[in-house]
Amino acid sequence: MTVRRSSDPPILLVEDKDSLRAMLRHALEAQGHAVVEARDEPEALAALRGGRPGVVLSDLRLPEGDGFGVLRASKELDPDLPVIVMTAFGSIQDAVAAMKEGALDFLAKPVDPEHLLLMVERALVQRRMATENILLKEELAARRGAPVIVGEDAHLKQVSVALHRAASTDATVLLEGESGTGKELFARALHALSPRANGPFVAINCAAIPETLLETELFGHEKGAFTGAQARKPGKFELAHRGTLFLDEIGDLPLTLQAKILRALEEKRFDRVGGTAPITVDVRVVAATNRNLKAAVAARQYREDLYFRLSVFPITIPPLRARPDDITLLARYFIERFCRDLNKKPLTLAPSAVDALRAYGWPGNVRELQNCIERAVILTEGGTIHGRHLSLSFKNTPTPAEEDASHWSQVDLSGSLAEATRRAVAEVERRKIAQALKDAGGDKGRAADILQVSYKALLAKLKEYGLDLIS
Ligand SMILES: Nc1ncnc2c1ncn2[C@@H]1O[C@H](COP(=O)(O)OP(=O)(O)OP(=O)(O)O)[C@@H](O)[C@H]1O
Ligand SMILES: [Mg+2]
Repeated sequence: MTVRRSSDPPILLVEDKDSLRAMLRHALEAQGHAVVEARDEPEALAALRGGRPGVVLSDLRLPEGDGFGVLRASKELDPDLPVIVMTAFGSIQDAVAAMKEGALDFLAKPVDPEHLLLMVERALVQRRMATENILLKEELAARRGAPVIVGEDAHLKQVSVALHRAASTDATVLLEGESGTGKELFARALHALSPRANGPFVAINCAAIPETLLETELFGHEKGAFTGAQARKPGKFELAHRGTLFLDEIGDLPLTLQAKILRALEEKRFDRVGGTAPITVDVRVVAATNRNLKAAVAARQYREDLYFRLSVFPITIPPLRARPDDITLLARYFIERFCRDLNKKPLTLAPSAVDALRAYGWPGNVRELQNCIERAVILTEGGTIHGRHLSLSFKNTPTPAEEDASHWSQVDLSGSLAEATRRAVAEVERRKIAQALKDAGGDKGRAADILQVSYKALLAKLKEYGLDLIS
């Protein structure tokens, strides 16, 4: 007895004879398979384009076109798509020809339903394994069960509620948050909570892959698409079919690829590199970024249309320092976990350690806390973690991220976008020019050289900012 997966794709059944088609359909459906029917090659091609069958079962003789056409179109769409052909009794030549063209197997008519079901089952299992093998490496580490999200903070609870709400839909979710806040964890939780939980979760880090490789990683390539492309390779969009695609660090996507991603998101279709026909996929996208995408749009580094497409359902994860009560909660959770992993008896947190943890700014957020606790668990020999085990004190100077944040908090954001931008640019210009003048010891010619502007342009700017009066 085989357990059907709700995510199993349908079987495309191509047969012109109504009675036989009905009989086969009935046999397949009785085993829990979904069936899509076609009576000739044109109908089969339309069905192939419209959806993605898991197996194709086709008669070789058809009133319009033939089974070889169906076979070729299937292989073009996806070389791993199993095709089983049905041949008239005695036409073994045809069966051999079909196998040569890539058919998985053949059935001689009259078709024995038992035999057919076994063949279909085997084809489905093979296909599942092919996809899963590719995903296994990436998934194994992550698939130790649905992720646990620790936190009692009211803000984080709101995020959780939003996550649950988004999970039941197919809407694109944009997770925003500083580094280490848990964006990937939330993305995995979203997938686990969604109706696609049985499908694959495929992650790609857009910042970690060189621009030249990113397109083939995302969309795959055909054999011979470029030098070194010795075999067809499916992209992440394809691997995520019927599951969730996690586009991590989407803010770092180069402009050239932004247009292609936008099309893939809008049309659920894309081209493999070197491919001739677009591929249709059923993928739910979750994107994450630690950049402020809105600001990147304003600076024209990011396409506005893509930003809108991605942020259908935006979720912002608050930084750890904004939820101080969660710091101790998470610390205790990590202590328990690492003690278990390291086979240590449970450790407790001394009040001094709690104070130190709460006083610290955690620029690296939960990831930094996790690393810090892991270190402490290893270093602690007694039963209690003290402040000194945490080695945090030397880091309590403001971090670059905090300094940055405080600079930005001083920028006057009132008025229209144009006004606020003009003010900010003018402030940077004025300070840069004043600095150059100082570095040049008041020599305007040298200051102009440092700034790489003409002497005349510098004089105009000095006047504009009233700096000519001080030199
Ligand atoms: N609320 C939480 N409960 C339990 N573990 C958490 C929580 N938030 C984050 N973590 C853990 O902290 C680590 C960092 O989280 P994650 O990788 O999801 O962050 P991120 O936002 O994707 O970071 P980056 O921007 O650096 O990629 C992970 O090991 C994750 O499991
Ligand atoms: Mg991440």
